[in-house]
Amino acid sequence: FEVTWDAAAAEKGGWPSFMAKEISEDPEAIENTIRGRFHEGRVTLPDLDALGEGYFREIDRIIIVACGTAYYSGQTAAYMLEKWSRIPVQVELAHEFRYRDPVVDERCLIVSLSQSGETMDTLMAVRFARERGAKTLSICNTQGATIPRESDAVVYTHAGPEVAVASTKAFVAQIAAIYLLALHAAQARQTLTDAEVAHILAEFETIPDKVREVLQHHDRIRELANWMADTRSVLYLGRNTGFPIALEGALKLKEIAYIHAEGFAAGELKHGPIALIEPGQPVFVLVPSPRYDDTLHPKIVSNIQEIRARGARVLAVAEVSDAAVLPIADEVFTVPPTDPAFEPLLHVVPLQIFALELSTAKGLDVDQPRNLAKSVTVE
Ligand code: G6P
Repeated sequence: FEVTWDAAAAEKGGWPSFMAKEISEDPEAIENTIRGRFHEGRVTLPDLDALGEGYFREIDRIIIVACGTAYYSGQTAAYMLEKWSRIPVQVELAHEFRYRDPVVDERCLIVSLSQSGETMDTLMAVRFARERGAKTLSICNTQGATIPRESDAVVYTHAGPEVAVASTKAFVAQIAAIYLLALHAAQARQTLTDAEVAHILAEFETIPDKVREVLQHHDRIRELANWMADTRSVLYLGRNTGFPIALEGALKLKEIAYIHAEGFAAGELKHGPIALIEPGQPVFVLVPSPRYDDTLHPKIVSNIQEIRARGARVLAVAEVSDAAVLPIADEVFTVPPTDPAFEPLLHVVPLQIFALELSTAKGLDVDQPRNLAKSVTVE
């Protein structure tokens, strides 16, 4: 009789892969990132004191720089950062940013996003911005990494160590951290009332539990992925914050399942992507809540009708009460009702699980996809 004890398996806490474990930790990643950072309806982020008293009233622009999944978390969170703070925000791939002679000066804050804090292109973008006189804020998941060390201020995400090459829990933690930054700036600039901030924070606190609800779809998504193991292409459609979530969903599938996948802004459908729709084409559609959104929701519903009429297989992520989507989608993964600001944190979860399970169904190495590294420390 021999007792076999596998250290690697133990580290995965009973999950078959690190990625599976890390997706299951999405709720804690958000919870730990926001914990202790707001009190009595106000954000308190002493981490930002290093930028100086009154700093957020003085700047006139924020540029987010990042690569890979961090770039998509930046694109997602930028919607609320601009909306709440009323500071114009642009989001750039770090390697494009510094090679195009951008306008950067001391009235511009550079926010870098990096799970590892070691991505060479992101680090070089930070150095470049500092040379031009801008202040730099690092949002990072790794204590003491190079990028936070070289930045004026740092807000750590507390997602815990992420081992799988494809980033998941760090993604949701990055969005949560930028939301705190956005609310901090809104308080400083008085672009939201105290009541509005308190209301947003009250909803923020409920998000980890709502993500837990979405995780309940895991078995059903696994069945779908098993059934789709031979799929050669998957499309993703979204609008507003759903657009970068569509891009992130497609990136996950490329990275670990080696399937051609593309995300599109749903409003672009008629400008090209609809030509790709042929019978059987799977399309994930991220549907905003009909309760808050009487402008975008009907447009997404008509997008679904357009692609369905051409034979697409519609896989919708929609609010639990969305009666318009149920009858017209082939599969619906429901999310609990929330403020539209927090929808991306719920909508990305089924897409993460889908990529994981499709990679598993194809018998691939989920945690160590071919040709990719967890941290790209060369240019
Ligand atoms: C690599 C990883 C991605 C990650 C990207 C940025 O490409 O495979 O998962 O999103 O680097 O990494 P960072 O550590 O800067 O967030």
